[in-house]
Amino acid sequence: MKKELGIKPFLFPMPVLMIATYNEDGTVDVMNMAWGGICDHDKVALNLEASHKTVANIKARKAFTISVADIAHLEVADYFGIVSGNNVKDKFANSGLHAVKSTRVDAPIVEEFPLTLECEVEEIQPEGFRVVGRIVNVLADETVLTEKGTVDPTKLNAFVFDQFQGGYYKIGEKVGQAWNSGKNLIKE
Ligand SMILES: Cc1cc2nc3c(=O)[nH]c(=O)nc-3n(C[C@H](O)[C@H](O)[C@H](O)COP(=O)(O)O)c2cc1C
Repeated sequence: MKKELGIKPFLFPMPVLMIATYNEDGTVDVMNMAWGGICDHDKVALNLEASHKTVANIKARKAFTISVADIAHLEVADYFGIVSGNNVKDKFANSGLHAVKSTRVDAPIVEEFPLTLECEVEEIQPEGFRVVGRIVNVLADETVLTEKGTVDPTKLNAFVFDQFQGGYYKIGEKVGQAWNSGKNLIKE
């Protein structure tokens, strides 16, 4: 028997993504974002509260990076979701992380995060809530790559967000292969 839970944003898993931008004075801001992800082969969509410092920065610089946080940096990833650059001038400096400027877009790359997409803004909805970015490059730490040079998800040590109770969860073991695990059910 199923119980009705009403109108809730209840999907699982949700990602833990770090959006990094430059403030007007050239310092770095990073925010934690669960409501976003890939929306085309070379595009990401961000769903952001218009009041965030990140939104002002994206409007001004037309660029951002989006990184996958790993468990080693869970504490600081959560901090980026609690504190706003609108209220705390040294938000990023207080995190103890390091950033370098992207050579492709006007946005910072956080050195400690293992996987980063460098993005140019393609579209900002007038009310500032939804931003579409074009991926111009992907950077991955060598430590998370397979011998063939693709990203090994088990080496990323990423974690996911639980929209039901606000928990962070470790990603488990591989249990199948997409476009293959269901093949036996295909009737010719
Ligand atoms: C787990 C988690 C997920 C979040 N997801 C989003 C999100 O998808 N969109 C959003 O606008 N804010 C989200 N937030 C809130 C922002 O990260 C937070 O308000 C942050 O302080 C904004 O920083 P800024 O003002 O420096 O840009 C999330 C926070 C947490 C902890």
